[in-house]
Amino acid sequence: MKTAKFSRLGFILAAVGSAVGLGNIWKFPYVTGEYGGGAFVLIYLITALFIGVFVLISELLIGKLGQSDAVSMFENLATKYKKIWKFAGFVVIVPLLILSYYSVIIGWILHYITISFEKLPSTVHESKATFMALLQTDYQTQLFYHTIVFVLVTAIILKGVKNGIEKINKILMPLLGIMLGILFIYSINVDAFSDAVTFMFNPDFSKLTSTAVIVAIGQAFYTLSLGMGIIITYAASLPKQSNIVRSSLIISIIDTIVALVAGLIIFTLLFDKGAESTKGPGLVFISLPSVFYEFGKAGEFLSILFFVAIAFAGITSAISMMEPAVLYLIQRFNMTRKKAAIICSIFFYVLGIITLFSNITDFAPALKVGSKTFFDWVDFVCSTILVPFGGILVVIFVGYFMDKQKIRKELTPLMGKTFLSIWFFMIRYVIPFALIAVILNETGLFKF
Ligand code: PHE
Repeated sequence: MKTAKFSRLGFILAAVGSAVGLGNIWKFPYVTGEYGGGAFVLIYLITALFIGVFVLISELLIGKLGQSDAVSMFENLATKYKKIWKFAGFVVIVPLLILSYYSVIIGWILHYITISFEKLPSTVHESKATFMALLQTDYQTQLFYHTIVFVLVTAIILKGVKNGIEKINKILMPLLGIMLGILFIYSINVDAFSDAVTFMFNPDFSKLTSTAVIVAIGQAFYTLSLGMGIIITYAASLPKQSNIVRSSLIISIIDTIVALVAGLIIFTLLFDKGAESTKGPGLVFISLPSVFYEFGKAGEFLSILFFVAIAFAGITSAISMMEPAVLYLIQRFNMTRKKAAIICSIFFYVLGIITLFSNITDFAPALKVGSKTFFDWVDFVCSTILVPFGGILVVIFVGYFMDKQKIRKELTPLMGKTFLSIWFFMIRYVIPFALIAVILNETGLFKF
């Protein structure tokens, strides 16, 4: 079954829309804070460029040559063991799992837009109390916003590649760019901007641990939406004449710029008001709102702009998480888009509700497995095991199980012979081991 294709610009915007998300604006700044600033940023840049771009090229290649859903592409393109490789395509379930809690977090962000309009917390103390109340007791609000995200994402996916995904990205991505631009220009004029620059770009290698390197690799993967069949699926709707090497560079450069700009904005504001907490997931939801408060009237405006920007970034990533599984159901089971979309969205919606309740104090004990909440488990299993594992499958597949002639024919004109050899070497001999190291380290099986 053939679905509509992206336009060239539409594809880039959709892929950037998927890549730029909470990972850039929420996670990148807080892991940078946690792992000591500049040295971490440098390692992240190197890994995003080498590992990220190389895997991105691999995923775009599978999509461009495969032109189908993820499961069929692995099956059709494999030179041997087709029936086994088919199972690699089932990574499409991973983004749906991620979406279950990602949607809850977008819900918090939507709630913070209303807080910015009404009344920002005046101290970090109050800010912490506000966030904890939302997280641990206020399931009604969380459920309300989770439902809004569910309806929005489903509605967009129902409209398909061209009229849904491409269209929404063409609207939201430029708006996101403008909003970040305004926030960035504002921060440049704040005194602490230079401190933020020093913090992010002046590497202190004594702070660099092997764990930081591993976290940087994981972050590069997560932020580029790799290892989950997403880029593969989007690339299957690429127009014929597109250049996948150029596309992969554009996607990763924009994604990286957004992460750096978001980091600079956040650290400038935090440092300017002397906020000491620059670490952990609470950075955006706890430290930042009370800092916005200290900026007075301008702060309210900045806060609204900031949370709307992350909401947009989150929504465009969220829709990309659903499309791979939807396309799989359409192609393999001959389902209508409507039926496929409804099945997938109910799946993530229900799972999201369990996730959300696992943070609510009264329900938490029942939804705790071992030392982690259900929420933490889904995040842990997906981000630290399944995503790197999906990445390993992609590079091994392209490196060892695809027709080399076909790959050469597609890529040599785009990157030349030397670069092609480097790329081949990386995906065959370097990246699989780097990703195994990520899984071992993060699961605690072996600490580097
Ligand atoms: N890349 C997105 C981000 O940085 C996250 C994401 C994960 C998107 C998985 C799609 C799939 O927020």
